[in-house]
Amino acid sequence: MIQAIKGTRDILPEEAGKWQLAEATARRVFRRYGFREIRTPIFESTELFARGIGEGTDIVSKEMYTFTDRGGRSLTLRPENTAPVVRAAIEHNLFRRADSERLYYIGPMFRYERPQKGRMRQFHQIGVEAFGSVEPAVDAEVIEMSTVFLQELGIPDTDLAINSVGCETCRPAYRERLREFLAPRLDELCPDCRRRYQENPLRILDCKAGCRRFLDGSPTLLETLDTPCRDHFEAVRRCLEHLGVPHRIEPHLVRGLDYYMRTTFEVLTATLGAQNALLGGGRYDHLVEDLGGPSVPGIGFASGLDRLILSLAPGAGEAAAGPDFFVAVQGAASFDQALRLVRDLRRRGAWAEMDSNPGRSLRAQTRRADQLRARHILFLGEDEIRKGVLTVRRMEGGSQWEVPASDLERLMGEVSLG
Ligand code: HAM
Repeated sequence: MIQAIKGTRDILPEEAGKWQLAEATARRVFRRYGFREIRTPIFESTELFARGIGEGTDIVSKEMYTFTDRGGRSLTLRPENTAPVVRAAIEHNLFRRADSERLYYIGPMFRYERPQKGRMRQFHQIGVEAFGSVEPAVDAEVIEMSTVFLQELGIPDTDLAINSVGCETCRPAYRERLREFLAPRLDELCPDCRRRYQENPLRILDCKAGCRRFLDGSPTLLETLDTPCRDHFEAVRRCLEHLGVPHRIEPHLVRGLDYYMRTTFEVLTATLGAQNALLGGGRYDHLVEDLGGPSVPGIGFASGLDRLILSLAPGAGEAAAGPDFFVAVQGAASFDQALRLVRDLRRRGAWAEMDSNPGRSLRAQTRRADQLRARHILFLGEDEIRKGVLTVRRMEGGSQWEVPASDLERLMGEVSLG
């Protein structure tokens, strides 16, 4: 038997309502902040990610689904979507038309990680990118929007952590201080972190193999920020306070992508166990230029949909259990009329069903309506046709009444749709 690949999964109809709820909430909230949707391809040239995310990151060095296509090109299934969105914006001159472009996306991403609860090889992100401003007020606006999104989705117990990773002017000093601090423990670091120690010791702060235990009492990024970076960070915090967004500073928060500078942030949840990051993001003021575009700063975040879904309340997004109407017929003439009636109800937005076999007994039809958990049965028999009416039976409570067959508006007004 052929099964779904390890680290991927099917989203079955029972769960789809939750996904639709999360996506609809994102679209509704992001619109209020001026974000518009962009859809980019699932695969891109490998070089885009190598240059965009950074060769030394876990994502690029260990986790990408990279393959050579039949034309000999090296392609990669996107492990994230900030680099692709920047590529698309440069390619289509979006920055020339408006240098304050705000874009969002929803779709699958791919990383070869060890699957566990909340961690998949094909996972899904909802993300946003706000281009064109270096102002701290925009950092705060984007962070505030991320919290509104989670609130409107009804996700409880979230914890917003923020930090600043400085810039290329002040970060080298921090790297040196961290190296000095870790030098006596160098032999105890994992093999990856010994390499990171040379190449980019900041990555040690993000080690998943346990090296973070050596960081107690280590110098923090915040202590080594230069004045412009410190001012920026203070201003972001002031804006967040002004906007009433609770947060805490996490001085060791670095993220697994190299393009970040200054503000980084994550929202964590207590309910998911080890994979507790519901979303993460930050500022990337040089990425557009590094990928060959104009000098346009940016900030954004992406949220893992699979994790959001796991955090939703049990009944969230559940669709109506059954049809609004089941039309039950008696006799050939009423069958033909019922076909049109079902069509008209559907055109008016109702979920309507009937038995497609004209020979079915009335008893069999009502049994079917029960099985489908229809909320109303509409009887259309010889009697009804003669009188020009429909008999409506509300399944809950069993009340029964007649409405003129020609007045579907009235019928729709007398029942509430699921
Ligand atoms: P990231 O932190 O790598 O950032 O991913 C963002 C979110 O995607 C994570 O917080 C998590 O919820 C989810 N996620 C990541 N990997 C997995 C996985 N294997 N399984 C399930 N969920 C996962 C980025 O991707 C950046 N592009 C975000 C960004 C946008 N920064 C600026 N703009």
